[in-house]
Amino acid sequence: MRHEDIAESFNRSGAAYESSARELINFAASELVQRLHLQEDDDLVDLGCGPGVVMAHAAEALSRGSAIGVDLSRVQLELARERFRLSALRPRFIQEDACATSLRSRSASAASLGLVLPYAERPLLLLKEATRLVRLGGRVAATVIGSPFFGSAGTTLLGQMERRGVVRPEIELQFDPREAVRLALLSEIEDLRLDEVEIEELEREFWWDDFDAWWGMLEGFGFLPSGRERILASIAGELREDDRVVDPDGQVRCPVKIWLLSATVCEGDPWL
Ligand SMILES: C[S@@+](CC[C@H](N)C(=O)[O-])C[C@H]1O[C@@H](n2cnc3c(N)ncnc32)[C@H](O)[C@@H]1O
Repeated sequence: MRHEDIAESFNRSGAAYESSARELINFAASELVQRLHLQEDDDLVDLGCGPGVVMAHAAEALSRGSAIGVDLSRVQLELARERFRLSALRPRFIQEDACATSLRSRSASAASLGLVLPYAERPLLLLKEATRLVRLGGRVAATVIGSPFFGSAGTTLLGQMERRGVVRPEIELQFDPREAVRLALLSEIEDLRLDEVEIEELEREFWWDDFDAWWGMLEGFGFLPSGRERILASIAGELREDDRVVDPDGQVRCPVKIWLLSATVCEGDPWL
């Protein structure tokens, strides 16, 4: 996805990004932070920080530490600043491309990539940047919504888009763990690489109170292609009536898979 489109999409979502899937976003952030093994004086860099949920989960552990949040979206950064206005942790925020930040190499002890890899045209660049920013022995962790995409509700949606020839959004909607391993193996930069790589797949059921709330989540994450409003409205109309999407009680339930990559930054040739 182009940087302008990412920024525009998350500027438009604003606070709706987080409120549309609060439980899912917090679950992913909490699991991610656990894999960073933070110490109280660590310095964290949160790439694609959005409204700051990952840093909020890290704040307690970083009682003497610091954090920097990087994002392309001005509105998400404003929300993040507001979140930490009264907090003990006072992160610094920068509006930059997380694939190529102005931050110094080896300037952090941990880097997080919460639900951000699929937005990058080249996700490897994001992982490499995280690796570059972390000192030897520091940690890198990333989460991604895995495949299948949002259980049978998501699969039905993708099927409908395909049938009607709607080009999917430019986000890589369906990542799988093998892709994560490939990215981790390739993410070597400035003599640093990832070691002790772990890939975990977590599965949880999340539900939305009604169809509109679920559809709002898809919009909030930028999962719906832009400029196809009429055809999307017609797809939404059909999905609303589909019992593979909406339960008899009106809720939309989705078993969601989240994969979690975590690793330690080390030096040297990976093949020796
Ligand atoms: C799905 S949100 C995730 C936000 C947060 N990390 C979380 O876990 O809730 C994706 C965020 O990544 C940001 N983003 C995507 N690609 C980016 C890039 N190349 N550089 C900086 N931010 C990016 C978007 O603006 C958005 O705020």
